[in-house]
Amino acid sequence: MNSASNMFKVAVVGGEGIGPEVTAQSHRILNWFIAERGVPLVVREAQYGLIPYLSKGKVLPEDTVEAMDEADAILWGASGGPETREVSAEARKAGSLLSLRSKYDLYANLRPIVANPALAEAAPLKAEVLDGVDFIIIRELTSGIYFGEPRGIETLPDGQRRGFNTEQYTTNQVRRVARAAFELARTRKSRVCSVDKANVLETSVVWREEVTALHREEFSDIELTHLYVDNAAMQIVRQPRQFDVMVTGNIFGDILSDCAAMASGSLGMLPSASLGPVDRFGRRKALYEPVHGSAPDIAGKGIANPLGSILSVAMMLRLTLNRPDDADLLERSVAAALAGGARTADIAEASAKRLSTVEMGDAVLSALNEAVAEQREQA
Ligand code: IPM
Ligand code: MN
Repeated sequence: MNSASNMFKVAVVGGEGIGPEVTAQSHRILNWFIAERGVPLVVREAQYGLIPYLSKGKVLPEDTVEAMDEADAILWGASGGPETREVSAEARKAGSLLSLRSKYDLYANLRPIVANPALAEAAPLKAEVLDGVDFIIIRELTSGIYFGEPRGIETLPDGQRRGFNTEQYTTNQVRRVARAAFELARTRKSRVCSVDKANVLETSVVWREEVTALHREEFSDIELTHLYVDNAAMQIVRQPRQFDVMVTGNIFGDILSDCAAMASGSLGMLPSASLGPVDRFGRRKALYEPVHGSAPDIAGKGIANPLGSILSVAMMLRLTLNRPDDADLLERSVAAALAGGARTADIAEASAKRLSTVEMGDAVLSALNEAVAEQREQA
């Protein structure tokens, strides 16, 4: 929030692969909320990836850095794909998504897993397994094996290569993300399941002990359970409705959230929010992105599902813009579009007409307009 103008700032960065296509649709949705609902927002679009690399030598050019630095929220598309081969490993690393997570200290990654009944038929799991699924994974995003040192690839005296990484967690790294999970659970069904591998890993022993201690000290009103990660993976596909809030470390959260995507029906539907620490003005840097990634196999074809990105806008409305009613309105409108039969290829039953990325954006915009018209009639 820029106090001089009372406007929030959002940087829209489509990036690579299907990122630009899906983000174009969520950008339209953002514009709708500015125009129709008076959300006080300034949007600045910026480039990321191969295109600025070819013209400016950087995947993350100065202009983009500036747009993201000044933003309250970043709407991110995707990064990566075959074009990464044309970018030197060093240039890639300098502007990677991981370096952004680290730079803005986006330690709490929220990935809601909600099954939509309209999609049961197209989903890979049985309808009875998906029934009532509504949980959220909080993945620690700035520590663990993704960032631990030492790391590298070395050549041993006998000529073999050895790759190595370091899994590590400190008290504070565990506690701040566990706190985020307990606080979120208080707004939901008051249940937290913490996932680790404490039967094998010391990092997980620290993880489990710190989560347990924080729970005892400050959150004894919340029900806390623990699962080993292998069991958690099984439970997510066996009976996902048992979960409310699941909290886990960086790499376990990466793997489990893709797995959990199947408990929602489709990876293309999943939004996410990555949140930094609250600063002394009560502000909190946030990056919103669909979970699906760059999907190079379908990039540029105009068939990708934009709902993961659009639902990320709903999370932005709720978590950065303090507009819970508008967040609900957008989520209801996505549900209405789906209930009305709107389907991109990834969520289509055999008989369904397949919409393009743009047509799915249109369907959500019409549902929004209809919802607002209905509200006016009732008023
Ligand atoms: C994710 C992605 C990223 C990760 C990749 C693109 C680095 O898989 O956000 O889940 O592993 O964190
Ligand atoms: Mn992942």
